[in-house]
Amino acid sequence: MTKKIYIFDTTLRDGEQTPRVSLSIDEKLKIAKQLKNLGVDIIEAGFPAASNGDFECVKAISKNIEGPVIVGLARALKKDIYAAWEALKYSRNPRIHTFIATSDIHMKYKLKMSRHQVLNSVYDMVKYAKELCPSVEFSPEDATRTDREFLYHVLEKAIEAGADVLNIPDTVGYTIPDEYGNLIKGIKENVKNINKVIISVHCHNDLGLAVANSLAAIKNGAEQIECAVNGLGERAGNAAMEEIVMAIRTRSDSFKCTTSINTTQIVNTSKLVSKLTGVAVQNNKAIVGINAFAHEAGIHQHGVLECSRTYEIMTPESVGLTKSSMVLGKHSGRHAFCQHLKDMGYDLNTEKLNEAFVKFKNAADRKKNISDEDIEKLICEI
Ligand code: KIV
Ligand code: ZN
Repeated sequence: MTKKIYIFDTTLRDGEQTPRVSLSIDEKLKIAKQLKNLGVDIIEAGFPAASNGDFECVKAISKNIEGPVIVGLARALKKDIYAAWEALKYSRNPRIHTFIATSDIHMKYKLKMSRHQVLNSVYDMVKYAKELCPSVEFSPEDATRTDREFLYHVLEKAIEAGADVLNIPDTVGYTIPDEYGNLIKGIKENVKNINKVIISVHCHNDLGLAVANSLAAIKNGAEQIECAVNGLGERAGNAAMEEIVMAIRTRSDSFKCTTSINTTQIVNTSKLVSKLTGVAVQNNKAIVGINAFAHEAGIHQHGVLECSRTYEIMTPESVGLTKSSMVLGKHSGRHAFCQHLKDMGYDLNTEKLNEAFVKFKNAADRKKNISDEDIEKLICEI
């Protein structure tokens, strides 16, 4: 049977930590509803102890969104965990996600705690969270820069205390695919009782490797991927949901797994998140950029018009677009130009078509964007 990969969407938590982004309750609810339509398994709704606003957002989502698991983030502190539970308790499927840093650099400079103290804290706080909430996820922050043996020990303690999901964050986007895959494999081989829990991954994109690292983790046994729409998140962001999902789907021959995402909702979701966060999607962004299914070069346009699979590995319809777009510019050829004229309702004889094409090429040499108006004008001149 094909293995299912759980999609844990953190657009409303890590995604909202994108510099200069802040969402109101209404906006978060709109996005949460759309994430449910998209079919994500888990929605990380916020960090209830961070502010009253965040608390109210998590509470509203817990009350109003049924289906996906609703998650609230909490430091490994009683007050944070309690606040998370108070916000989450209205949900049918609540989960507390608690974390503490485990790398030497974070423990020394940020926490000012010894390994021993951190280990005790992991046990006590996971146990406390589990007393309140039926599902608990634990993250050793900065896992990829944590001493391996200590990391295994920390994860064992979290399992002993009742964690259901262990998330392995590449907090600073430092790891590379083979190393991260190896880390997940090492965890599976060395942590006692690891089969009792789900292994999750959470990758940041500081080196542009968040998606590649997450996919390497899937190949080594990770079952939950934390990601954000349009790759939003702290600094360079998180692994992009749309890229993870479409890679798993397009290369199912290699990954041999599936997700429950309704991929035709991907573009809608991306547009909504971009509009409400005010963060524009770059034109050449994979899957959701406006150029992702656009062709300008004549050779490509000809190929796509004959058989789209020549230059498209996914259909535009599969992500919620109606069709590929043919951009008319100086690299375009006769095929796309003629097709465009037909779509505009023109039926020219060969002579007129030749003349129109020469005029179009001359205009495209002078101007970057040729609009339908420009084309109408040049046809009137012949
Ligand atoms: O990047 C990170 O380490 C996090 C954790 C809180 C999971 O966002
Ligand atoms: Zn993060």
